[in-house]
Amino acid sequence: MIIFGIETSCDETACAVVEGPGNVLSSVVSSQIPIHRPFGGIVPEIASREHLTQISGIARDALQRAGVEWPEIDGIAVTQGPGLIGSLLVGISFAKGLALTMDKPLVPVDHIHAHIHGALLGLSGEEQRQAAFPLLALVVSGGHTNLYLMRDPLDFCLIGYSMDDACGECFDKVAKMLGLPYPGGPAIEKLALNGDPGRFQMPRVSVSGEGPFLFSYSGLKTFMVNLLRKEGAAGLDPQLVSDLCASFQKAAFEQVFRKLNGAIREFSPKAVIIAGGVSANGYFRKMMLEALSEPFNLPCLFPRLEFCGDNGAMIAALGCNALSAQARHWGRDRRFDWDAYSKYNFMVGS
Ligand code: KG4
Ligand code: ZN
Repeated sequence: MIIFGIETSCDETACAVVEGPGNVLSSVVSSQIPIHRPFGGIVPEIASREHLTQISGIARDALQRAGVEWPEIDGIAVTQGPGLIGSLLVGISFAKGLALTMDKPLVPVDHIHAHIHGALLGLSGEEQRQAAFPLLALVVSGGHTNLYLMRDPLDFCLIGYSMDDACGECFDKVAKMLGLPYPGGPAIEKLALNGDPGRFQMPRVSVSGEGPFLFSYSGLKTFMVNLLRKEGAAGLDPQLVSDLCASFQKAAFEQVFRKLNGAIREFSPKAVIIAGGVSANGYFRKMMLEALSEPFNLPCLFPRLEFCGDNGAMIAALGCNALSAQARHWGRDRRFDWDAYSKYNFMVGS
């Protein structure tokens, strides 16, 4: 099955062709980062207009690079949400137009769930065997820090999420305080390479009451604001900034591990997937791989670097699974009466 994937939820216009579910024939991503950087974050109005000018060219490019023609495409998958509403509407409207003109089934997919499928793209045979169910899947991105228990590729049982800021969002805000460019994650990781992660003791955030796997990053962010006021009074020398980045990064990732550790003990998964933009961080990958090998001896899969951030291939991969599962339904009754949504449904098991 060959699926065409479209992603426009935030600041990347992306299209891909995937031979299902994991063989990527092409993946074209146009990033808007340079356009938004002067504003220190994403400007939604500019993002949706930029998607509108880019989407046709990116779609054509993805098809050409894959070396396939429209008759060979079995279906189209598009991000339905969550994301910026204006940006989502561009991708969805384009996808509906394409599906109607080309007479193809159209599958709306969840962006966060798709990040998990992004970790399963281009796996070797050995890696495919490691991705066994049930598994725990963690999506650490700019908008979400979500933990799922999955019993099969389409079963996303949400068991944990952030009560306030997402992990990536916290990186972006802390980077802004330090005067670093948007997006903050890669900038903090780079500076942390020369820093001492043990110089500053950060708070160990613990959220309980509503469930054991809840995350919180607003406390760590406020701690950084106060620390910067104190330490920055005498001026921020480069070594101090590097030490702050290294200590912050360590604390942010230790929280992720503490929650994952508890979930592994409770659910005894056969594998762990860690995906989303933050999973590109090399220090994070090393920390998690080491922590999961001893004492758990659990396989831990990360997406290839090109599939950590937003891309169309992960959308196509999830769409392929959904379309295979619902092939008869989608073939018989091609529905277009659905809308974008920007609000995520936090119901566990939904
Ligand atoms: O998944 P993604 O591309 O978009 C969303 O769906 O949100 O994630 C973007 C987030 C940003 O917050 C960015 O700062 C963070 O991922 N990020 C990183 C790194 N690369 C991207 N955070 C830490 N270290 C990195 N190397
Ligand atoms: Zn994303």
